[in-house]
Amino acid sequence: MAVIPVDIAGRPYEVRVGAGLLPDLVAQCGARLRKAAVPIVTDVNVHAQWGAVVDTALRAAGHEPHWRILPAGEQTKSWQELAATVDWLLGLEVERGDHVLALGGGVIGDLTGFCAAILKRGCNFIQIPTSLLAQVDSSVGGKTAINTAAGKNLVGAFHQPSLVLADLDVLGTLPERELRAGYAEVVKYGLLGDAAFFDWCEQNGAAMLAGDAALREYAVAHSVSAKARVVADDEFERTGTRALLNLGHTFGHALEAQTGFSDRLLHGEAVALGMVLAARYSARKGLMPPEEAERAARHIESMGLQARLPSLGLNCDGRVLVGHMLHDKKMDAGTLPFVLMRGIGQAFLDRQVDLADVTVFMDEELAR
Ligand code: GLY
Repeated sequence: MAVIPVDIAGRPYEVRVGAGLLPDLVAQCGARLRKAAVPIVTDVNVHAQWGAVVDTALRAAGHEPHWRILPAGEQTKSWQELAATVDWLLGLEVERGDHVLALGGGVIGDLTGFCAAILKRGCNFIQIPTSLLAQVDSSVGGKTAINTAAGKNLVGAFHQPSLVLADLDVLGTLPERELRAGYAEVVKYGLLGDAAFFDWCEQNGAAMLAGDAALREYAVAHSVSAKARVVADDEFERTGTRALLNLGHTFGHALEAQTGFSDRLLHGEAVALGMVLAARYSARKGLMPPEEAERAARHIESMGLQARLPSLGLNCDGRVLVGHMLHDKKMDAGTLPFVLMRGIGQAFLDRQVDLADVTVFMDEELAR
């Protein structure tokens, strides 16, 4: 098992990455489970796959699991589910010092974390991420949120978990498409700040996705370590360091919005293509050697992810896509910061990007 410290001032915690953590849940949580009753929020799919393992582990140690099993999918990150889940936790008389368990992917982690952030002005929670994307990104760093009619993740809080348990065995039951989409957030760490890790991804990404256990542990632990360093440095995304984790997300957000945040394009798939667009736009501006941008695109494509805009079959022009970007929550006094690249492993934040120029670029990419 790899243990990665997240050194947040005053509230440090660990991310543990390894096989067999779910059956060993009670020992892993230790004194954090201080009462018999244990509230667990999950979704129907995860419950069907892993509910019995978690239930058995808790009951064997004398605990009484209380399950809240929500529908799977983004629509669960809503005001309605937030209110209902908070009421459910209040009904269980959860106290600030208690821990709520979030067993699921990003949706469950974000919703449960936000409930924990506001319950009695903040109670503890433990992230037990069950998707690759949640293990390497969303479960670490304390971003919690729900979606509203105005957009995704527009209401939320920074609230750090007390512990993250990333059980690698859960990756073996994920649909292949979801695993590939999660891989985008792995290769992101190479592209944004770690050229040697990008080399590693080129050499090992396919075998890792195919199921090699040692490579999976390395990929998840290395990604989490990268994220932990960034989060410890800039917990609240104020200095610009944490914003680099948004590589590919501004372009990707436009693609997700245009495809209706639907199964047509998963978040990780949008991030993968978004990173290629960020690299190509950087090359077009003379910031990054074009061959490096194409190297990034080749790797993304070789992993079964889209690296060309026309393959999405979007029925729109660049102006429409840039219009979606203007609703990004990162808009700041009329400007939109973009994460661009000087090379593989050399991302930086550019606050002066000309959106008219991005529109021309998107039209070129749509016609590519
Ligand atoms: N997913 C980006 C961040 O946690 O900052």
